[in-house]
This record gives sequence, C-alpha cells and structure tokens, in this order.
Amino acid sequence: MAVTAHTGRPRTGAEIRAAFLDFYEQRGHKAMASASLIPDDPTVLLTIAGMLPFKPVFLGQQPRPAPRATTSQKCIRTNDIENVGRTARHHTFFEMLGNFSFGDYFKEQAIQWAWELSTVVFGLSPQNLVVSVFREDDEAGAIWRDVVGVNPKRIIRMDEADNFWASGPTGPCGPCSEIYYDFKPELGDDGIDLEDDSRFIEFYNLVFMQYNRDAEGILTPLANRNIDTGLGLERMAQILQAVPNNYETDLIYPLIETAAGLAGVDYRGLDAKGQTSLKVIGDHSRAITQLICDGVTASNLGRGYILRRLLRRVVRHGRLLGIDKPFLAVMGEASIALMQVAYPQLLERREVILAELAREEARFLETLERGEKLLAEVLAAKPTQISGEQAFELYDTYGFPLELTEEIAEEQGLTVDLAGFEAAMEAQRQRAKAAAVSIDLTLQGAIDQVTAAAAATAFKGYEQLEHPCCVLALVVNGEPAERAGSGDAVQLVLDTTPFYGEGGGQVGDRGVLCGQGADGTGVIVAIDGVSRNRSVFVHSGRIERGSLAIGELVNAQVDRACRRRAQANHTATHLLQAALKQVVDPGIGQAGSLVTFDRLRFDFHCPRAVAPAELEQIEALINGWISDAHTLQVQEMAIEAAKAAGAVAMFGEKYAEVV
Ligand code: SER
Repeated sequence: MAVTAHTGRPRTGAEIRAAFLDFYEQRGHKAMASASLIPDDPTVLLTIAGMLPFKPVFLGQQPRPAPRATTSQKCIRTNDIENVGRTARHHTFFEMLGNFSFGDYFKEQAIQWAWELSTVVFGLSPQNLVVSVFREDDEAGAIWRDVVGVNPKRIIRMDEADNFWASGPTGPCGPCSEIYYDFKPELGDDGIDLEDDSRFIEFYNLVFMQYNRDAEGILTPLANRNIDTGLGLERMAQILQAVPNNYETDLIYPLIETAAGLAGVDYRGLDAKGQTSLKVIGDHSRAITQLICDGVTASNLGRGYILRRLLRRVVRHGRLLGIDKPFLAVMGEASIALMQVAYPQLLERREVILAELAREEARFLETLERGEKLLAEVLAAKPTQISGEQAFELYDTYGFPLELTEEIAEEQGLTVDLAGFEAAMEAQRQRAKAAAVSIDLTLQGAIDQVTAAAAATAFKGYEQLEHPCCVLALVVNGEPAERAGSGDAVQLVLDTTPFYGEGGGQVGDRGVLCGQGADGTGVIVAIDGVSRNRSVFVHSGRIERGSLAIGELVNAQVDRACRRRAQANHTATHLLQAALKQVVDPGIGQAGSLVTFDRLRFDFHCPRAVAPAELEQIEALINGWISDAHTLQVQEMAIEAAKAAGAVAMFGEKYAEVV
C-alpha cells in the first residue's frame, strides 16, 4: 500500500483538507479550486455539492477538465436550517472534499482509495468503520467484502432513499456507497442501525455516477461511468479532533468564542439553548461571509433571501444571548480571519463583506424596532391572545419574526394563536401558488425536451442581421410539435441565427422569420424574445400568417432599430462602469446588469451611497465619451488574449474559451 507524504495523522481542518487533496493528487488527480457558491446551473440556487460544477461534464455537455480531479468545494444547503445547532452535524455552509473520475476509474478503484485514505491517512481503525451499499449493488458489496476485507456484518444494505444519489429531481445520478464512523464499536456488529446518529456519522459518500434521470424519472446510462465523491470536512474534523460535534472543531469554534465574548458568556457554562444559539451564530457567520464574498447581496428573492434569512437568524440569536449592539461586522471579520488562508478572496472582498453585513444588520434592527412598536400597540389594547392574523401581518408585512412575537407576548403573560398564524400562512401560500404561472413550468419542460439533443446554435448576429436558417425543433402552445399553424404561440430552435439570445444581461432580439411555409403560401413569424437553453437559442413568438414545419427554411430578420438601442445601452453599461471606477472607486466591479431596448440598469457593490455631485461628474464624463464617437469593434478572441489586451472580466461570471 502506498505511503502518503504525511507522517502524522492530520488533525486541524487545514491539515485534513491538504491531506485529502495531496492523496488524490498523488494518484493522478488534477487539484482544482473551489467554484463559486453561485452555480452556473439554473436548477439550483446555490452550490449544494462538490459535483455541481462538474454536472455538464458528467452529462457530456462540456469536455472534462482532466480524466481525474479533486477539489475542496464550498457548499451551502439550507434544507436543514432548523437543525443547525440542534444536532451535532447540520450546517448551512460546509466544505466538501471530493475526488472525481470522468469516465476514467470506477467502483473498485474508488472504494479501495476511499478505504486507504480513511484507514492509512486519517488513521481510522477498521473497528470504527461501517459501510453502506445500495441494496441492488451486489458488486459494491462484494468489493468491500472480498477486495477490501470488511467484515460482512459491517456492510449494510440500504434502499434508494439513502443510497442512490442525485443532484436534483433530474440530472446525473447513481447508486452510492457510504463510509460511517462508529463512535461506539463496543456495541458490536449485530443489529447495526446507521440511522442512530448518537452512534454513527456518515463521512464519505462514493457515488457511482452512471445515469441521467429525465423529468419522467427514466434513467438513461450516461456515455461514461463516473465517480463523484464527497467527504464532509467538518465531519472528519469532528472525528479526528475527538470533539462532540462539528461546531466545536477548529473550523467553527473560534467564531463561537468570538460571539461568546461579545455576549459576555462562556460556551461551556451555557445550557443547551444558549449553546445552540452560539452554534447557529458560528455556522451562519461562515455562510453569510462566503455568500457576500461570492457576490450575493441581501434581498427578498432567491439567493438574496437566503442571505437575508441567515443573517437575520444570526442577529436574532445574538439578541437571545444578550448582545444588544450591532455585531455582524465583528463576526464577519472573525470569519474572514478564520477562512482566508483557504479562501484568499475573502481578504480581497473584505470591505464589501463588512459593509454589506453592517448595512443589512442595521436594516433588520430597524425592522425589529418597528415591529416592537406595532406589537406594543397591539398589546396596549389588552387582548387575551395575539391573533394569528396579527402575528402573520407582523411577520409578512414587517418581517418581524414569529418567535419574537411569541417571546414578547410571553413576557406579558399572553400566547399567540399559532394555528391561526399557520392558517394565515397557508392562505398566503395558496395565493402565491395561484399567482405562479404553472404554464411556464410546463413550457420550460417542453423547451428542455426539444433542446436536449440539439447542437449549439451558430450565432451570426455580430456580422449579419438577416440570415437563412433551418427550423430544427418546434414547441407549439407549450407542447413539442412537428408543425405550427396561424395564430399559434411558438418556440423555435434554428440551426443558425442572427438573433441575439438573452444573455450577459442583454435582452434577446426581436424581429421576424419569413419563408415559403409548410403549404407554400408563405409564413410570417413575429419573434418577440430569444433566450438560451445552455447553448441552444430558443426563439419565442407567434405565427402571424401561414404554417411552418420542422426542416423548413426561413429568412430570419432582426429588428434593426431595437438591436441598435440594445447595443447602445449595452455599451453604455461599460461606460458607466468606467466612469464609476474613475469617480467613485477603482475597485468597483459589476454585480449584474440589465440591458433592454429602452433602458439599462447596472448593479455594483459599493459600501456607501454615490453622492449627487459624483453623479453629475459621472454623467458629464459619459456624455463626453459618447460625443467623442469612438468606433466600436467587435472581435472574438481566446480569453487569455482578451485579458492580456486589457479586457474587463466580470467577477463570478463564467466565460467560454473564446470570448
Ligand atoms: N454528490 C455526493 C454528495 O453530495 C457525493 O459527492 O453526497
């Protein structure tokens, strides 16, 4: 058996991370940096697993970066947020160590290395290990028993819910096999129940990624058999540091100490409730710091809402511990100090992180103050109970947390009608559901279906605004179809297109498609939007006249006036950024933008408001540049050449090889 470079057993989080990556690098894996927490994948809000950045590789949509890779990936999961701090091992932010094979080695090699790493590098005794396999995967069971030599009583078969891993309802998936640590091996090998988390902790998951699951749940073998593994860094740290839970490892405990110091309490002396609050603060402080670092700002939508929710929970738990002053910047500073060696970008983004934390905390403290005032008015009427509607209004309209309403009510000897609150919440959910456009979901399903097999659309629109194109696929009134008739709402995939597909913040083109039509009497399709499903352009519009079928030729014509306006607005975003850099702060980067035919919006991070005098300066600068009437040149070049020529790349954005 190969001997690793590490003599002693790794103990700290940093040592464990390094030992894992070294082990796999020595075995031919390319060590790659963690991808952003903001995934390049519309099906999830955040990077939830180490495999996520490689999803297009597993699906054969992108070339593999190497036959084997290894990473320590930043991840956030919020499905178990209520359990954070209550159990020994639930997190929002965590690091997943992984080794990946893209059509290279498979099950037997992955299992052997996982065992060698666990027993030799991490020095875990086989007496402390149990493995699970998917109940139908006899092959994995046999490898553990015959090749590795694991006691058959410590090989547990589990069903699909536990041992068949998928990144989501659709996408790459496969049976898996997990390694568990047994804290109480003295209880013996009989009647092992891996659900008993006072005895076992799962730390390494080996996924034999060999299928793609479609929307109907049908499994199709992938072109390659792959390996995707995940080893929870915090869990291995708990095991090797012999502490009772993940929060007391060196990866989080320093943050607990910081918060305890601010509250003037001692973690060890607190009851379970107080300890939970400190654990929540420790866990969430890492998450919010990393989220802001990767470009998320607090809002009421999507990722922004996740950040807001986590951040508010930190403030809430701080108040429960008696911290009555703003303290998030201190937690942010401590989080940066804790993680900056592994993630140096935290240092580069330090000011943005601290400013966003402080600003959002101040906003929440105002919310709390307003809510407390409103609640005081409700209480002044001397009710016998706080009604569900009142509590819900405070929560929904004013962002005032229910538990806080309950707490304040309790101080007055009152209760809150929780059933009424739930009913009001449910009614709200039903209203939201009714308002959601369910048609859009089925439409997206149909678009996914017709674009799945399509090749990337060749975009001709930089040079030409008119081009002959062939219809490759059609969605008619939300269903995949062979032909469309007059009046139908359609989505079309063409082989080539002069239409710009919405992307990089710029809206898709408008225009028309004209052709002979299915019956030879002419067809006109008005196109009012073009989107991209990965690299396939989807043209949406309506058949104004005639009918059209797959395989026919059309002449695609972009609306020149609209395109000109979108181009002008797009160029203006770059001018705006250049002016902001010159006037406000050379470090200003783009956080997002919207370019439509009639306006533009440019998002950027800046810890303070831009002053009116600066706005005037910016306006004058930009108008000056516009009247200089520089010639615009469009060039495609390799990304490295573009960077060398001084091109500005956007933070967090992924670029193709040719830009
Ligand atoms: N994708 C699997 C998991 O998240 C293994 O990395 O558990």
